[in-house]
Amino acid sequence: MCGIVGFTGRIDARKFLLDGLSRLEYRGYDSAGIALVQSGNDSELGILRVKGKIADLRAAVDESELNGNCGIGHTRWATHGVPSEANAHPHRDCSGRIAVVHNGIIENYAQLRAELIAKGHDFQSQTDTEVVAHLVEEFYSGDLIEAVRATVAQLTGSFALAVLHAEHPDTIIVTRNDSPLVLGSYEGGALVASDVPAIIEYTRDVIYIGDRDMAVLRSDGAIECYDATGAVFEPTVYHVEWDLEDAQRGGYPDFMLKEIHEQPRVIRDTLAGRFDVVSGELSFEELPLSSEELAAVDRIYIVACGTSYHAGLIGKSIIEAWARIPVEVEVASEFRYRNPIITSGTLVLAITQSGETADTLEAVRLARKAGAHVIALTNVVGSRITREAQTVLFIKANLEIAVAATKSFLAQVALLTLLALHFAQQRGKLSKEQVAEIYAEMRKLPEQIEWILANSHEIEHCAKACADATTALFIGRGVSATTCFEGALKLKEISYLHAEAFPAGEIKHGPIALIDVEKRTPVITVVPQSLTREKTLSNIEEVLARGAQVIAIATYGDKRIHELTDLVITIPSVSEYLSPITASVPLQLFARAIAIARGCDVDQPRNLAKSVTVE
Ligand code: F6R
Repeated sequence: MCGIVGFTGRIDARKFLLDGLSRLEYRGYDSAGIALVQSGNDSELGILRVKGKIADLRAAVDESELNGNCGIGHTRWATHGVPSEANAHPHRDCSGRIAVVHNGIIENYAQLRAELIAKGHDFQSQTDTEVVAHLVEEFYSGDLIEAVRATVAQLTGSFALAVLHAEHPDTIIVTRNDSPLVLGSYEGGALVASDVPAIIEYTRDVIYIGDRDMAVLRSDGAIECYDATGAVFEPTVYHVEWDLEDAQRGGYPDFMLKEIHEQPRVIRDTLAGRFDVVSGELSFEELPLSSEELAAVDRIYIVACGTSYHAGLIGKSIIEAWARIPVEVEVASEFRYRNPIITSGTLVLAITQSGETADTLEAVRLARKAGAHVIALTNVVGSRITREAQTVLFIKANLEIAVAATKSFLAQVALLTLLALHFAQQRGKLSKEQVAEIYAEMRKLPEQIEWILANSHEIEHCAKACADATTALFIGRGVSATTCFEGALKLKEISYLHAEAFPAGEIKHGPIALIDVEKRTPVITVVPQSLTREKTLSNIEEVLARGAQVIAIATYGDKRIHELTDLVITIPSVSEYLSPITASVPLQLFARAIAIARGCDVDQPRNLAKSVTVE
């Protein structure tokens, strides 16, 4: 997704803008640019844009005369108009004195553009954003704040905007609607970005403004905030724990591997403080629902997208098994366009790592409108969903930079498992002893993941055996089928190897036709100790008989699986409902190993963005 940076201060803005954009590279982009109020030249802004990488922009800036203490920058991920220099931000008005960077989509841009063209404005790009620069020009008569306010009143859709004017050489104006912005200041000046990593080198005390609020950043570090009516307000300052090290690779070759290796810590943090040994009860102080209210819940909807949706599928199996509440898991982009049955007994769990996914946010709005209590599970403090849901539970993944979600997925599954235990306990479906036993088993998970990470050589070997395949199938039963869905998504998104997952019992109803004896089609099976292990072993025999190359994720010491295939990745023995947490780790490493063998960029897969803030 696009990234925004802005700086106004007493020093050269170029370093902050370029370093900030580099730190937002993980969001995915196809072009980049900066605009500066040029020192000693208040008639026109200096601007440089490139199609390609930040390194190209940096080289172009180094070769140029461009300099100044106040500027804005952008990484663009194309939505309206092809990736090109002309469509890259910042966009200017006709005079070249106003520049704008924008994240989101201006839904009424076509109508605005036609009106502005009729008034004589000359457009240079195919983007929706350019209308903003021309609208500010249209409304400007000396007061930039008023011009931006009048402009925003014309816009429908989602936007985070930063606006620069050559006549106001120390000022940046920012505003937002449904698209994130974070602001901060330090002794050198005031900063704005679409995401925290761009500014944490300078400050960890940050401000988030609400929809259609506006902020004016000054070169002395002052930030004035105005609400949608134009009234000044004192913003809340949040302290961000993440430091710059969190935003860097920490010695690993890529963020994905670093984040996979952080998972023991993530699970420890997720479990910390969640079990009260004195009362023998799970502790969810953030949840306002009493045991009577939980007893009255007759249906749970889980809404999410992508990997978070897969975490939801696993959550369904566990909540239904332990708490005996019917759970429906829905892709948020579907849920929001139908008429789901929501009653006073409906609870909605919205899962989103970023807290900014447009479809999930819309699903939450729909659910709230229909009267449901919405609990958000998210990773990002201050994100949009934290202001939309009644209750927020934070997963403890910490900043996740690789586009492919790994540690946030495990954190989501672990938190859902704890929630399932809590619901089960509050509804009297599991005894204190049973809850204590499961919690004690969960406490062993971090060490078990460390064991998997230390014994990952088998994974490399298995990955080499199928790196050249054209398609891969994933099969498992019960909760392992849902683990497979996420394994297949990880593989396809970072290695571009086509992969599909099926409940193992379904394979003979169609997918088995995909197995090509000559190509030795890889079939990855997740077969931990479970009620359905024997059945899965039969399915493995079926695919072996058709010439598949079977890679099995199985429990350490499972002799039978070694009789069936040489390609076995072992995981420690855990009970069935905890196996998604252990089995997902080798699946992540397997996907990464194949992606590396195929020469792919595992942190920034093609066509993908870390957070999808457009529909
Ligand atoms: C896949 C991946 C995506 C996200 C999806 C939802 O690795 O990261 O499928 O899971 O875009 O994002 P969030 O969880 O931020 O709502």
